[in-house]
Amino acid sequence: MAYIEVKHSSKRYQMGDTVIAANEDVNFEIEKGELVIILGSSGAGKSTLLNILGGMDTNDEGQVIIDGVDIAQFSSHQRTNYRRDDVGFVFQFYNLVANLTAKENVELASEIVKDAMDPVEILTEVGLAQRINNFPAQLSGGEQQRVSIARAVAKNPKILLCDEPTGALDYNTGKQVLQILQDMSRNQGATVIIVTHNSALAPIADRVIHMRDATVKSVKLNPNPQDIATLEY
Ligand SMILES: Nc1ncnc2c1ncn2[C@@H]1O[C@H](COP(=O)(O)OP(=O)(O)O)[C@@H](O)[C@H]1O
Ligand SMILES: [Mg+2]
Repeated sequence: MAYIEVKHSSKRYQMGDTVIAANEDVNFEIEKGELVIILGSSGAGKSTLLNILGGMDTNDEGQVIIDGVDIAQFSSHQRTNYRRDDVGFVFQFYNLVANLTAKENVELASEIVKDAMDPVEILTEVGLAQRINNFPAQLSGGEQQRVSIARAVAKNPKILLCDEPTGALDYNTGKQVLQILQDMSRNQGATVIIVTHNSALAPIADRVIHMRDATVKSVKLNPNPQDIATLEY
């Protein structure tokens, strides 16, 4: 059994009289420790899928098996525990708490779980040892995103979910952030799932799940993922 198995998962949103199919019979597998890119244009259903994987939203039909457990069957209480203990999120616009320092932002996450990583250690790992006492407004976009990655990773999550993590960053800063995410999967064995509309990022992934019109169009395994340093996009 694969680490993550999504089987016949569908999600519809009711908007007044119309029903929008955001995910329609979605199927794929992911192995532990992979760096995965979910690729597709705007409206393809990527964020919906990521939110379902992270327990922030629920599907209408189908199985979402994470490490042998079907989270689609969870009660809302179980889903809360799952979100808190097992999932790290990274968003396009960082979502840091403005009046807390980098270190305090990471502590916020590490304090709510057992077996959390040391905030200073993880901030050092993402290259922010000199910035731990700075507030978000004193940090560049790329630095803020690295704080948000540290915050997500500090919980030692089963899966790290990233929705357009480089969407607000310039080219070189975006590459630094991708490098950190690739290192998380290669060196720490983290299962990292990145949603993006940018097909130029696909070569860095172990697995590329291509979405279009609410469905998975293809799943491609990449035996030799490209190093970020040599990536041009
Ligand atoms: N909470 C929601 N309520 C209503 N419609 C939604 C909601 N979330 C997403 N959708 C719709 O579902 C479709 C897929 O959206 P989304 O998953 O955000 O796509 P993507 O992330 O690939 O751009 C879109 O048509 C979007 O408008
Ligand atoms: Mg989206």
